[in-house]
Amino acid sequence: MAPMRVIEGLAEMRGACAEARRGGARLGFVPTMGSLHAGHLRLVDVARERATRVALSIFVNPLQFGPAEDFARYPRDAARDRALAGSAGVDLLWMPAREAVYPEEPRITVAPGPMALELEGATRPGHFAGVLTVVLKLFAIVQPDVAVFGRKDVQQAALVRRMVADFDLPVEVVVAPTVREHDGLALSSRNAYLDAEGRGRAVLLSLALAAGVERFRHGERRGAAVAAAARAVLDAEPAIAVDYVACVEPGTFTPADRATEACVLAVAARVGATRLIDNVVLGDGLEADVRLPG
Ligand code: PAJ
Repeated sequence: MAPMRVIEGLAEMRGACAEARRGGARLGFVPTMGSLHAGHLRLVDVARERATRVALSIFVNPLQFGPAEDFARYPRDAARDRALAGSAGVDLLWMPAREAVYPEEPRITVAPGPMALELEGATRPGHFAGVLTVVLKLFAIVQPDVAVFGRKDVQQAALVRRMVADFDLPVEVVVAPTVREHDGLALSSRNAYLDAEGRGRAVLLSLALAAGVERFRHGERRGAAVAAAARAVLDAEPAIAVDYVACVEPGTFTPADRATEACVLAVAARVGATRLIDNVVLGDGLEADVRLPG
């Protein structure tokens, strides 16, 4: 196996990707913002199963952060990321500079439509326009055959799928299960912000989802009641501030009157100053996710 190639420039990346696809080889792509963890590395594994070569990008995209959000302090550790990507078997690691991706403020951006007004979009205006714009740009450079996203960010993955369909982009979008710590906390680069107390409380997000699934399994079919069962777990902890807990339709992310197995139970909450999100597909439950050993 050839050693991992680390690339900065756009033109160099475009060339390396073209080369990787030569002779009909399939190129897999995992876009990230770095601060890599086992959730990201799992996406690399999934990409590797479906492609000959795997490219991973690390770019903290300013366009998807609101003015009061954590762009400046988002965790960055290039040396560690490089080592992790190398040991995960990434072939092309792309770490473009901000000026290379956005030589000037973009004038044309992707309008993500109504799905982006729900949940994360309602709490973070402009977020998904920023995500889809950068993903479209990354796709244009890498031109992957298959791109892998995590279910942890279920609304993002659904929007990328929809963009690919609406723009007829020649890329297969694969969504991989959420990777969780041994106690259920979904892995996230933002977990690094948590102190020991916060870390202890953060597990309540996944416990809340489990409570909602439990209610569903006991026969509850009112979406609002399933969401309320989850919300009660979070409301019991005064140090957690809920942004939303919602049982939504998978295609639109609008609230589901009637909960079905395909519905998504999604939560966003602030644990101290750290905003975390998580979700579960009601029919799958948390067992469908990957859990790391304790
Ligand atoms: P980032 O938060 O770094 O996540 C990169 C990819 O890893 C996303 O597809 C995300 O869903 C996935 N991921 C994160 N935590 C995960 C977990 N615990 N289990 C499984 N997958 C997980 O999402 C972004 O970056 C950005 O918005 C990006 C798509 C790169 C555009 O800037």
